[in-house]
Amino acid sequence: MCGIVGYVGTSNGVPIVLEGLQRLEYRGYDSSGLAVAGSSGLKVHKAKGRVSDLKAALPKRIKGSPAIGHTRWATHGAPTDHNAHPHVDFSGRFAVVHNGIIENAPQIRERLVADGIEPRSETDTELIAHLIGQAAVEHDDPVDALRTALRRVEGAYGLAVLDAQHPDRIVVARLGSPIVLGLGDREMYVASDVGAIVRHTRQVVHLEDGEIALLEPDGFTTSTLDARPVQKVSELVDLDDEQFDLGEHEHFLRKEIGEQPEAVERTLSGRLDERFSTIKLGGLNLEPNELRSFKRVYILGCGSAYYSGEIGAQLIEELARIPATAEAASEFRYRNPVIDPDGLYIAVSQSGETADTLAAVEELTRKGARVLGVINQVGSAIARANNGGVYIHAGPEVSVASSKSFTSTCVAFAMLAVHLGRIRDLSPADGDRLIQALRDLPAKIAAILEQEDAIKEAAEWLAQYDSAMFIGRVRGWPIAREAAQKIKEVAYLHAEAYQSAELKHGPLALICETMPVVAVVPDDELNEKQRSTLHEIKARSGQILAIGHESFPEDLAERTIVVPRTEPELDPILLNIPLQLLAYHAALALDRDIDRPRNLAKSVTVE
Ligand code: G6P
Repeated sequence: MCGIVGYVGTSNGVPIVLEGLQRLEYRGYDSSGLAVAGSSGLKVHKAKGRVSDLKAALPKRIKGSPAIGHTRWATHGAPTDHNAHPHVDFSGRFAVVHNGIIENAPQIRERLVADGIEPRSETDTELIAHLIGQAAVEHDDPVDALRTALRRVEGAYGLAVLDAQHPDRIVVARLGSPIVLGLGDREMYVASDVGAIVRHTRQVVHLEDGEIALLEPDGFTTSTLDARPVQKVSELVDLDDEQFDLGEHEHFLRKEIGEQPEAVERTLSGRLDERFSTIKLGGLNLEPNELRSFKRVYILGCGSAYYSGEIGAQLIEELARIPATAEAASEFRYRNPVIDPDGLYIAVSQSGETADTLAAVEELTRKGARVLGVINQVGSAIARANNGGVYIHAGPEVSVASSKSFTSTCVAFAMLAVHLGRIRDLSPADGDRLIQALRDLPAKIAAILEQEDAIKEAAEWLAQYDSAMFIGRVRGWPIAREAAQKIKEVAYLHAEAYQSAELKHGPLALICETMPVVAVVPDDELNEKQRSTLHEIKARSGQILAIGHESFPEDLAERTIVVPRTEPELDPILLNIPLQLLAYHAALALDRDIDRPRNLAKSVTVE
């Protein structure tokens, strides 16, 4: 969703901010803007559409420092030039960019109008600019003015502010929406996502909720909303700039699908403990006796994270024999859930920022539950809100549609399930069997990726239809859901996921020659039952693409993609890989905007 980049230092901030904004494009946005403060005041430019549209609209000679920029994903007000950030206050002194949502915006607007200030846009952000302008009448210092303004604001924000009267400063604040500072040599950076600035510096400081920072070329100072000074320690981020580049690829989604063997290696790295036939997970912060005491596991996440949680729940039930379920975090938080005192709660999120998942964790923590995270983004809001957890270390994921983080999350769940199992009743022999299978996953994923030509051909066939049915059973069911979602997200094809056995209770009526069926059919204990379903589909002229193992009978499906065998519990991890490529190639055949699907955002930081 929205993104922030800022620069203050001795170089020209404009290209740095523009390039940073392009790094944030993947988060999803519909307009962008930039402001520079100089001796002649503020210069502000905005454009609907892509950052390239903003670049095209900029005067050739614009340059300077400090500069701030923003990519906006519309919430309050349509995606127009007018509503794009930065917003300037009534006095023309302050320019503000903002991520998040101000909940008392209607009340603030009313007060401002009563004070004779007529907002020019429909945004909540412009209101913050005016509040800062009003506060500056009494407090000339921009930090004090921002602090005073924020006392009147309810909601979530990550903010960066330029002050025309101090054209060597940026003031930033954070409450519920990430802000990271980057330290350079006589220069400072700020961003909502470290990926936007990692090219320039890897020395960073994460602001905490309720903190304000003043950035000047020579350094920064931090304080709280109630004016207490805070000492911050910088850290070195372990990220390569290359990970944010397309390299030889046309799309991040394809690049990231291809990175899965290495991503899974990283997820497994240092965690397979052959000596005790178990998995070592250093970040759980729970003693074995505590882990034994949980009677149920509840997994929460949104989108692909939720579906990976469904696979996680199955793995935990199968391997640790603890009842486990997954639920959409967005539903959970609003149904006033009963908190199970004997339950272990697990929040899943690639970004660690998803608002609904974060709110679910906060609700759980407030009610005293134990919450672990399965998260990609180290140090993210959800990671910090948990009691501990497992980082998946998949590396940065830029494509909106998740691929490597989905796979690595499933691998992390498999490891957690073995760990929980081994302190309960999973035998050492089963521990060894699964450890070996986990170790072999990267090579098997690589082997699946080699079948790309056959998968591409199947995708081009699928792309001819308006609608498709994805079916699976038990282990294959979350995979069918994830695959249907992926086809919707990137190919904009209508796709419905159904449990194979449920088909005959309704959707079988849809099956005909124009409704292709993609069936996830592992050679497991349910294979025979699945085959019966496929016969029922065939009998109704349904066309089938089967994803299964080499034992799959050739005449049962028009097309078959065969994945290597692993241990049955881990089958879903491999069965999903061809389905990622299927969605990618269907989207390619249909000429979709694959990395930036319409209406979607990578990190959904609003409810
Ligand atoms: C958005 C993305 C999905 C993603 C979901 C959860 O909806 O478009 O691809 O699965 O958020 O994201 P998270 O970062 O919490 O895993």
